[in-house]
This record gives sequence, C-alpha cells and structure tokens, in this order.
Amino acid sequence: MDYFNYQKNKLFAEEVELEGIAGKFGTPLYLYSQRTLVEHFEKLARALKPLKPLICYSLKANGNINLGKILVKKGAGLDIVSGGELFRALKMGCPPERIVYAGVGKTVQEINSALDKKIFLFNVESVEELELINKLASKKRRKQKVALRLNPGVSFYTHKYLQTAKSESKFGLGFPEALKIFKNRREFFALSIEGVHIHLGSQIANPAPYLKALKKIVPFLDKVQGLGVKLNWLDLGGGLAASYREKEKPSTADDFARAIIPWVKKSRLKLIIEPGRFIMGNAGVLITKVLFSKKVRSKNFLIVDAGMNDLIRPALYGAYHQIIPLKKKDSGKAAFDVVGPICESGDFLGKDILLPKPESGEMLAIRGAGAYGFTLSSNYNGRRRAAEVLVSGKKARLIRQRETYQDLIRGEN
Ligand code: LLP
Repeated sequence: MDYFNYQKNKLFAEEVELEGIAGKFGTPLYLYSQRTLVEHFEKLARALKPLKPLICYSLKANGNINLGKILVKKGAGLDIVSGGELFRALKMGCPPERIVYAGVGKTVQEINSALDKKIFLFNVESVEELELINKLASKKRRKQKVALRLNPGVSFYTHKYLQTAKSESKFGLGFPEALKIFKNRREFFALSIEGVHIHLGSQIANPAPYLKALKKIVPFLDKVQGLGVKLNWLDLGGGLAASYREKEKPSTADDFARAIIPWVKKSRLKLIIEPGRFIMGNAGVLITKVLFSKKVRSKNFLIVDAGMNDLIRPALYGAYHQIIPLKKKDSGKAAFDVVGPICESGDFLGKDILLPKPESGEMLAIRGAGAYGFTLSSNYNGRRRAAEVLVSGKKARLIRQRETYQDLIRGEN
C-alpha cells in the first residue's frame, strides 16, 4: 500500500506529479510520500495497541531528520546503532527516554555520549560490552537500563546477508551466557539489566520466525524471572517485510500482531519493536533519467543517471525493485537491463525489466527505495549523493540538497 499512482498516465506521489518535481530538483532524486510512511507507522501502532508498545523506528533504514521528525511527533521512539545516529535522533527532537541503542561494536566515546544524553536502553551484545557500559556508567554515578540481545538461533527465508539470528551469526548472546549474566547481575552494579532483545533479520514476510523465537525465549524468560530477576522489557527488534513486487503480499501489521500478542502477554513484559523497512520501504522512490539505450548482442541496456552508489540493494543483495516510467506509453514493451554509469559490472538497478522503450531524457521511478536506499549511498566514482524531496498532499519540499563537488573534497586539505 502506497501513494504512488498513475493519474492520466502520469506518475504521482499523493497529489504531486513527479515529472515536474524531477525537472525542478534534478535527477537522481529520492522522493518520499509522507502519507505512506505515516500510514505504515499507524497501522503497526493500531494493530499492537492492546500491548501499548514502544515503537522505535530503526534509523538505519532512512535517517533523514525530516522523516524521523514526522514519526517522533507521532509518538515513535528511535532505534540507533552509532554516535552518528544518536546525533540524528536528538536533532529529530526524540526524547532520550524513547531511544534504544543496539550494535555489536559500541565505542567508549559512543557509550559515554549515550549515557550523558540519558537514553532509555542499551541493547547489549557481549559480556565485554556489558562490563564496559557498567564501568562508564559507574564513573558517571548513573544507573543505566540495559537489555541483553539474545541469539535465538532462528533462520528463515531471506537473503543470507539479512539473517542475523542464526547460531553462527556475530550478533547477540547465547542463552547459557545470558543466563550466567542474569545470575551474576549484582556484579554490574551500575546497570539495571531488565530486558531481553532479539532481532532476527530483515524482510521477514510472515510471522513464523517471530513465533519460533518467542517459543524459545518465553520459557527462558520464565527461568530468568525464577532467579528473582525483575524483567520489564521484551524487544523483538525489526524485520517486518515491505512488498517489493506487485503480486507480493507479505504479512500485514495485523497478522504480525495476532501472532505475537498472546506470547508477549504470556511473558508479562512490555513490548518494544524496531521496524525500519516496514515503515519506510514503500514510502520512497528513486527517480532517474535515461541517458542512453544500446543493444549488446541480444541484450537491451538502458543506461540511466542513477547507479549502485545511489541504490546498492540490487548489486549487494540481488534485490528486486520495480522500475516504472514516470509517463506511461502505449508502445509495445521490451526487456531491458537498467544499468548505471559506474565502472562495475555489478552496477545494475534491474535486470530484464519490461518497459515501453524509453527515449533518452525520459524518467523512470525505482520503487521500494525508501529504506536502505539513501542511507547506503556513497560517493563512489566521484558521484554526489542525490537530493531528497518529501511530498505531502499537494506540497513537495527539498529535505536534503544534492551534494556539490565541494562536498566531495571536504576535509581533504
Ligand atoms: N533493529 C536492529 C537491531 C537491526 O539491526 C535492524 C536492521 C533493524 C532493527 C531494522 O530492520 P528492518 O525492520 O528494517 O528489517 N541493508 C539491508 C537491511 C539490513 C538490516 C540491518 N538491520 C537491505 O537493504 O535489505
């Protein structure tokens, strides 16, 4: 469900016609629909209402402060993984008591600044990290809330890079290690270890993996509570899928809620979730202009002005994104590989995409680019990172300027 639709053969975001906007701000251009991202957030909030959860939008999906602000105003918290994301979160006006901080490699400086800002919860991934946070918090005479990230050993169908809770993964703690920490909790006198966290991976298309994990975790929680530990929080991480293909119907917020609510109730803990892609994935497109077309042997190529530096998901994960023209044409369709200008064979945005042959200068929209699009973009090949525009109703506003050549050499004396 999103608000990118054709009206009289022209692609619109909400009430804004995209070709005009792309002409005004240039291409490649990331363009987001506010209504789409708000609706996704609200669907999730509504479905989980009986649990009164803290929904911490995962900033890594898309950290633009203008987008985050919208969600924070709606009551969202934020899930961060670095000092840089903490900086962004605070710029978004997020109250620190709604910030959760995950990641396997937090530095002293990052932990100190999160302690100083009094964030709500650290999701801790190793014993050494726990010892360090304890040491730094005690120096500041703080009592800091933490949750232990568990690795429940659950795998599911997604790209192998997007699985994070298999037994061989670098994330989280094993159950025996976590149990030992709970038993020795008094050693960590500056910490209140009062939650558990999991994050199974990304693009989880049905609730089954969550159920598998909950079936393992809930008995573990009982065991921990049996030791007299007062637990408060169950953080189920992110992972809910967005739909990338027209016919794809990943499970909805309601399916997810229906599956997990009984288990969360059984745990008697308060729920945190950290969705990124579910909220942002379908709320953004990447608009690109056709530069050239050519035929090499039997293959038709469309060479466009966006490349793998703008959207790396096809190159990195073999991810599929729908590619559609901004102006629909009736002419017959042919299959094209849509490729960028970068000097790498992996620089493609789509393979065998059926399109009416576009002329040079025509524009295409790469759908499903709202999450892990701009945030994974780079300056490779001396390319400036794209501009970003936010549409709301009839209005379109620039929320990030296109980088300049000066930006490319900033800091190189
Ligand atoms: N929480 C934690 C601890 C995470 O590591 C992640 C994502 C999330 C929440 C949000 O997950 P989501 O709801 O968006 O699935 N670059 C990849 C995705 C990597 C996800 C990394 N962690 C992609 O483009 O598909």
